[in-house]
Order: sequence, then C-alpha cells, then structure tokens
Amino acid sequence: MTQTALRATADIKPTLTDEEVLDFCKTGLLTLEGVIPDTTNRWVFDYLDEEGADPHQLVRDERFIDEVLLHPAVAGVVRSLLGAGFQLPEWMANHRLVGPEAARYWHIDAGSDFERACNLLQVFYIPQSNSIEMGPTLFLPGSHLVPIAREDIERFGNLTGQVATTAPAGSVFVTAYSIWHRQPDKVDQSTRNLLKWVYWRTVPPARDWLARPDFDFRGADYSFNSSYFCGGHRKWQSVPRIAEMFYWLCGKSDEFHTVGGSGWPYSSSDPGKWSQQRQ
Ligand SMILES: [Fe+2]
Repeated sequence: MTQTALRATADIKPTLTDEEVLDFCKTGLLTLEGVIPDTTNRWVFDYLDEEGADPHQLVRDERFIDEVLLHPAVAGVVRSLLGAGFQLPEWMANHRLVGPEAARYWHIDAGSDFERACNLLQVFYIPQSNSIEMGPTLFLPGSHLVPIAREDIERFGNLTGQVATTAPAGSVFVTAYSIWHRQPDKVDQSTRNLLKWVYWRTVPPARDWLARPDFDFRGADYSFNSSYFCGGHRKWQSVPRIAEMFYWLCGKSDEFHTVGGSGWPYSSSDPGKWSQQRQ
C-alpha cells in the first residue's frame, strides 16, 4: 500500500441527467452493476484475504483511488450528486462475512437524519459476485426520506419492495445515508466482502449535472411507486419530500413552496386524482 496526497476532484465530469438525479431522490439508491473491472476486483479481494488486511489502508492507496474511488462511472455519479470538488473518503470499512451468519435487523446508521438534502453519499462495493446465499445487503428504496426510530424498524421482517445486492463482481451501490438496510441470513461457506465508505460535498448544491434546459419542474412526477411505500397513504407522504430534495440538489430551495393539501407537487404526480390547482 502506498501513501498519497488527497486527490483533486474538481475536473471530474458529471454523468447523470435531471431524470436520473430525480430518480435518486425517489429511491436513495443507484446501482452500478459490474462497473469495476475483474482485474481490480481480484487484487482487492486478494488483499482483503491477506492476514491482518486493513481495509482502511485502501483510502490512501493510489491504485484503489484510481480504479475504484475515482473510476469514471462511480466518480461521475458522485460528481453529479455532490458537486465539483467532492471529498474522497477518509475511512473505509469492510463488512466481511466468512461462512454462515445469522441475519441482522433492519436499521439505519448512526447520525441518520432523513434530510431532504444530499451532503454525503454512502457507497458500497462488492469485489466478488453476490448470490442470495451470501447474505447480500438488503436496501429499502425510498426509505431514506421516511423518519423512523431505530428501535421501530428492528421488528420488521421482509418488506415488499426490498432490493438485494445480488449482483456481479465489481458492482457499486450509491446510497443516501439514511436508507434502511439489513443483512439477511448468509447460508453458504463463501467469504463475502462489502467495502463501504462515504464521499462528502464541499460546495453548495447546483444543477450542474447533465441538465436539460426544458426540464419541467412543475410537471415532473415526484411520486415513487415502491411496493412498501405505495400502500395506503405512505406513497403520498413521500411526494413533497422527494420534490424538496430535488429542489435542494438543484440549488433551488428558495423556490420550493407548497400550499399543502393536494396542490403541487401532488398535482403533478397524478393530475387526474389529486389535482385541484397548481402553483
Ligand atoms: Fe448499517
């Protein structure tokens, strides 16, 4: 492992469109399947298998920075959501499981605030393919905007709409920090590595991703049809939160106003059912 100075990230090009940024506001989860090449996955896996391997050392390793942390597909998403000059991680964890392990509870990580903002991104990377037998982390898309006490979600079992990180080697999962997640039962004998780190914003939000001049803020659909959150009133609770987060990311918080009731942004999501007025 080699030591290196912090890398500049100011010149990285964003890759997301308005619609993709809005999708991230809805789900809190963006999956990049198999983007890290096999050569990288292999040396990372071998390193983590070494006696006394310290995943934290990877944040200062030039090869890891080049091939994973600043891989163009990963960095382009991070640049889109966190702006220019985002800060690289200062720590790295490895949720490594060897052999069978019992499931853990649904939880949110310490400091989760369900904020309608995006000042950091929590990212997961699997250097080996994940099958369902390997206890792949489960995420609940849309849950990052749904405030809940940690002790309240512990009793939840399988949730409709949960997404398992079953994916090929080299997949990267970009998440909003407050997303609900859990590790299910791991039933096989394999070794599973799950590297996890955080990128930070250093500049105010601005709509400087691959934005389209004619994007329709008023008419956009701010609803999310996750199976869990679309039951009963839950879908409709999240609509203004999604819109507020998107406006925040655009640097347009000052322009975000709602009149309550079934007015915008509900009206744009399902005009036939909800619309009485638009503002
Ligand atoms: Fe966690």
